[in-house]
Amino acid sequence: MKHVLVINSSISGDNGHSSKLSKAFIDQLGSDINLTEIDLNAAPLPHLMMAELAAWMTPAADRTAEQQQLAHYSDNLINQVQTADLIMLGVPMYNFGIPSQLKSLLDRLARAGVTFKYTDKGPVGLLADKPVIILATRGGLYQGTPADSQTPFLTSFFNFIGLTQLHFVYAEGLNMGEEAAQQALTAARQQLGKLSEKVAA
Ligand SMILES: Cc1cc2nc3c(=O)[nH]c(=O)nc-3n(C[C@H](O)[C@H](O)[C@H](O)COP(=O)(O)O)c2cc1C
Repeated sequence: MKHVLVINSSISGDNGHSSKLSKAFIDQLGSDINLTEIDLNAAPLPHLMMAELAAWMTPAADRTAEQQQLAHYSDNLINQVQTADLIMLGVPMYNFGIPSQLKSLLDRLARAGVTFKYTDKGPVGLLADKPVIILATRGGLYQGTPADSQTPFLTSFFNFIGLTQLHFVYAEGLNMGEEAAQQALTAARQQLGKLSEKVAA
């Protein structure tokens, strides 16, 4: 049974286009999956602060009760990512970037010595590679232009920790009239349908 990790970050919660598309994708995978869902709108993570970094750098057995609580955010997330066979991210574009809620999560996924390490040949990702589907929802049109800050950032980030099987699906022009929005959503659903067959195989 496949372990699927879904991470949604729309501030519209279940009503966000990215959340709806990710739900449609999960439904296409059928019931024979082990699903873990992270809804960063319902349960936002705080910004990463130095006290949490200090907790990571303290051996588990020596952590104070507060440090144990702080380290749990990252430890638990990394465990969910390690256990997953497939990861799906709903990524709205907000103010030319990814949601700050998602940035807070990614800040807890990059852990020196755990998900990446530096060597004399440069950084090496430590996570076992697996497919990551990135569902990018946008009011305007950015794909393939220098204004698309999300695609290069997410590519660099995931490659850095060892995840290179990235599949970007774009639903763009969602605020450019009803017809354009429906066309974009239909195209994204079709692309997700093909991907669900591919990753389920
Ligand atoms: C606070 C905020 C900022 C936004 N900034 C952008 C932007 O920079 N570029 C863009 O194309 N759309 C922008 N949008 C539109 C969203 O990308 C669009 O509504 C998309 O559907 C959001 O995804 P969601 O429906 O999954 O939440 C913004 C929307 C909000 C609420």
